[in-house]
Amino acid sequence: MKVLGIYGSPRPGGNSDLLLDRALAGAAESGADLDRIYVRDLKISGCLECGGCDETGACVVPDDMDDVYPRLQEAEVIIMAAPMFFYGVPAQLKALVDRSQALWAGRRLEKTPDQWKIYDHGQGYFIAVGATKGQTMFDGSKMMAKYFYDALDKSYEGGLFYARIEKKGTIRDHPQALQEAYELGRKAVAGDKSQ
Ligand SMILES: Cc1cc2nc3c(=O)[nH]c(=O)nc-3n(C[C@H](O)[C@H](O)[C@H](O)COP(=O)(O)O)c2cc1C
Repeated sequence: MKVLGIYGSPRPGGNSDLLLDRALAGAAESGADLDRIYVRDLKISGCLECGGCDETGACVVPDDMDDVYPRLQEAEVIIMAAPMFFYGVPAQLKALVDRSQALWAGRRLEKTPDQWKIYDHGQGYFIAVGATKGQTMFDGSKMMAKYFYDALDKSYEGGLFYARIEKKGTIRDHPQALQEAYELGRKAVAGDKSQ
């Protein structure tokens, strides 16, 4: 099974990176074939809202998304990880998410309205960290994740959300969180959704 990890933080080796590393290690334990996208290494424009994808399902903007689109579609499971930046995800990741509008348009062309809530291309998960204490800081990004995966024809299966995590590597002081991430990846591939 192909499992794609999307690393959404600009900080290499940071908290969300470490959690996603563990999740992918768990997926590998269950036999996954891994792929990784580090959004910080890519040049991805924001969506231009030009309508170019409405007729074809293909984006007209030539940039690093050209390589990302097929990988989003080939993966049967996607695990996306990100820090909270101003109660959302970092701009680099948001650009990738916004550009999935082309896949949303393609799905609208392929499926009838009664099929829109049927997901035929796998599952998606979301792991997020933030420095402050309230769980509500994740609310907007959870909705973003749900509809990102909707565009990819994948069902959103939830994820892991850790507050009060700020300094680089602080998540290492939370071995239970790292174990939960490992289990998320392992179960995502093993088909066991009892998180
Ligand atoms: C630009 C910026 C904005 C941030 N905004 C928030 C925020 O709105 N809420 C919050 O709890 N933490 C916020 N943080 C803190 C990060 O979410 C936190 O340090 C996180 O652990 C970083 O994860 P990473 O190491 O994976 O990048 C912000 C940090 C930066 C640099």
